[in-house]
Amino acid sequence: MLRLTAGATAGAVLPLAGLVSCSGDSSTSPDPGGSDPAAGIEPSPLPIPDRLFGPIVNLEMRPGVREFLPDRPAPTKGYNGDFLGPTLVLRTGSDVSLNVTNNIGIATTTHWHGFHVPAAMDGGPHQRIDPGTVWTASFPLLNRAATYWYHPHLHAATGQGVIFDPLSTGYQVYEGLAGMIIVEDAISDSLPLPRSYGVDDIPLILQDRRFESDGSLLHFPSDFNAATDPALRKGGHFLANGVEAAVLEVGAQVVRLRILNASNARIYNLGFSDGRTFFQIASDGGFLNAPAPLTRLLLSPAERAEILVDFGSDAGSTIRLRSFNGGMGAALVPFPLQDAWDNADFDLLEITVGATRSNAVLAIPAGLTTVEAISEAEAVNLGSPRPFQLAANPFGINGLRMDMNVINERIRLGDTEVWEITNPTTQAHPFHVHGDSFQVLSRNGFAPPENERGWKDVVLVRPSETVRIIKRFHDYADGVNPYMFHCHILEHEDVGMMGQFVVEVAP
Ligand code: C2O
Ligand code: CU
Ligand code: CU
Repeated sequence: MLRLTAGATAGAVLPLAGLVSCSGDSSTSPDPGGSDPAAGIEPSPLPIPDRLFGPIVNLEMRPGVREFLPDRPAPTKGYNGDFLGPTLVLRTGSDVSLNVTNNIGIATTTHWHGFHVPAAMDGGPHQRIDPGTVWTASFPLLNRAATYWYHPHLHAATGQGVIFDPLSTGYQVYEGLAGMIIVEDAISDSLPLPRSYGVDDIPLILQDRRFESDGSLLHFPSDFNAATDPALRKGGHFLANGVEAAVLEVGAQVVRLRILNASNARIYNLGFSDGRTFFQIASDGGFLNAPAPLTRLLLSPAERAEILVDFGSDAGSTIRLRSFNGGMGAALVPFPLQDAWDNADFDLLEITVGATRSNAVLAIPAGLTTVEAISEAEAVNLGSPRPFQLAANPFGINGLRMDMNVINERIRLGDTEVWEITNPTTQAHPFHVHGDSFQVLSRNGFAPPENERGWKDVVLVRPSETVRIIKRFHDYADGVNPYMFHCHILEHEDVGMMGQFVVEVAP
């Protein structure tokens, strides 16, 4: 049994074939303080990914090289570059064509995470792109303005060795295959928000990595022990847009950060070094009703949050974006699965504030939009929500592991449904649903916090928690091509904590 769960289990020997050898890495035996993982790394400016504007974009998945550690080049993979990819900028209402060329030499897919698309255009496990071929996704862009992302989504196999498989999603994302998508619409156009990309509207992709001593990406150590070592790709090197110890220079004004947690398994508890209040303006799939004031923002894998930070009176100062994981104890990650940074504070980005720039936004808007709350009364199953029980032993959902040939759930076209996700395990799981955004109705029977009262496509379900979501299935019936629902800890997804649903016209 892989150490994917917190319960002590006897160890079967895992197939380690394909696992690169390693001669040790400082981040595998972290300083328990864990406060300065970037020691020895020279600060460098936060790279801002290039933009590709729709409606037609061309992406090439290709191998690359990146020096994460000085003078120790690592083989990587990226879209149109060495690591990560360009930010796609698309407009609601446009007919987009997204062309993806696979030049990574192995099979893959590219999924438009959060997009409201026909299942055949989703880029999930069934839209396989063989090496040397091009896959085109064409669809009308129906999403609201918000921050989305793209990444591979192949389902390699089922079985414990899957996490080591280069065809797995966790493997390919970890190698660098991921990028941001910005959707703009009439509402985002009209709001008095920072919108100058890379200047006051900043894409910020957060990831953690560990490295071999030769600088290459360490997936799992060669002495990986299935019985005792957490089967999760986590590390103490924290990358912002692909670089460690990144520095962002901003003006003394309101700055918008579009934060994407593109980590395989790490949960961040974000805040600023001076404890300041910031304002969340958008969740995964759209603007909130009004900016939600926060001092901490929990962001689990695949979640996005757009925040506004008012640096208007900070000229000359340096402020750090930090993850305040210290003191979390076993609330989200139980002790046998933790590394030092699951229970320590660490910095993600240094922000230096200069003079106010031209066209600065100087105020946090009072309101943003009117989120249309999906009424419970609209649901066809309010009295008996569709159950999704996450399980760790065996690993799966409703007692089943992902099987490409099994449709787990059949939804009737036109229905609105309540889904009830229960987590009897001892670790938190970010539950994601394809097809369209949803809304969170309740956590353990209580209304969710302000910043979760908007459109979501990932919801973190804590240990012993029951979360109810409501979702519409009003278009794109296809009895053959399924959508996925899964935990977005990629090693959990790969090992089978995923299932498939189809939306079909009632017989
Ligand atoms: Cu981010 Cu099933 O996807
Ligand atoms: Cu997705
Ligand atoms: Cu999980």
